[in-house]
Amino acid sequence: MKEKILKLLLSSEGYLSGEDISSALGISRTAVWKHINKLRGEGYIITSSTNKGYLIEKDTEVYSAFEIKRNLHTKLIGREIYFYDEIGSTNAAAKDCRDAADGAVFVAVNQTGGRGRLGRNWFSGEDGIWFSLLLKPDIRPSEVSLITLVAGLAVSAVIDGSGIKWPNDIILSGKKICGILTEMSSEITSLSYVVCGIGINLNIKEFPAELKCKATSVYIETGVLTSKAQFLASVLESFEKYYLIFLDKGFEGCIDEYRKKCITLGKDVSIVRRDESFQAKAVDISPAGELIIERENGVSEAVFSGEVSVRGLLGYSG
Ligand code: BTN
Repeated sequence: MKEKILKLLLSSEGYLSGEDISSALGISRTAVWKHINKLRGEGYIITSSTNKGYLIEKDTEVYSAFEIKRNLHTKLIGREIYFYDEIGSTNAAAKDCRDAADGAVFVAVNQTGGRGRLGRNWFSGEDGIWFSLLLKPDIRPSEVSLITLVAGLAVSAVIDGSGIKWPNDIILSGKKICGILTEMSSEITSLSYVVCGIGINLNIKEFPAELKCKATSVYIETGVLTSKAQFLASVLESFEKYYLIFLDKGFEGCIDEYRKKCITLGKDVSIVRRDESFQAKAVDISPAGELIIERENGVSEAVFSGEVSVRGLLGYSG
């Protein structure tokens, strides 16, 4: 009901009377007033005038499922949006709701236990974009890591000037601006679901001391605060675009764009294995999403993400 009132207010050119709202929706004027107060509590600025009714300020910045949906034009991604003011981790929330629709999105203003790769914590204050996608694609478990690459491409496409550090860190001005943590539930050959968790440093003004040298945000780089609802909607649209190409044509459908965005290519990398470590040049990405490196003797091979660290040219490495 609250969202219906919001829609009426947003589509009205001027003031809308309490009476018009109550008769349009078949509820009492007291109920209208209560919902209006709830909307005010969420951050909408709604003035009331005794004779004219209610008037909403249309460009107020509110971060909610409704505002994300209002900006979203997708078929699959975000069909269901679960929005939390505070939660441990959106990846955990998505796993707990694994029966939700394919394409459901779990968003949190604040994560108290944001998780990163390799068991690390993920800094998740209230100025970032923290969300997880629940996906149920008809692919083999061995192909799931490609979804992480697709997600990296989708995010990089909406952050001007950013590049992808293979496989899936998004880098701006030599520092990390987005991280992706993909998890799955599967039997040996059949996939049950994938949770792709994405953390984007959007409006963060300052990082804790230990992160300052390796993390940045859109705000720190541009000095501009961005609407979280609009930004997330554009990330979801970008993800849907590349994800549908991936489902239709495989990663080969995205590989050229990925190569263009991949800042690892052409760089010197260190490969560290249990039995050897050596320097090589990153020369290509394979259709299976692997990094192709060329050793000093000219021999090339494919490597896994855990084996590679990028040295030199980037301020951020790891
Ligand atoms: C990384 O270490 O680079 C991956 C970071 C992933 C962070 C996101 S924020 C939303 C989702 N929920 C989590 O707990 N982690 C991911």
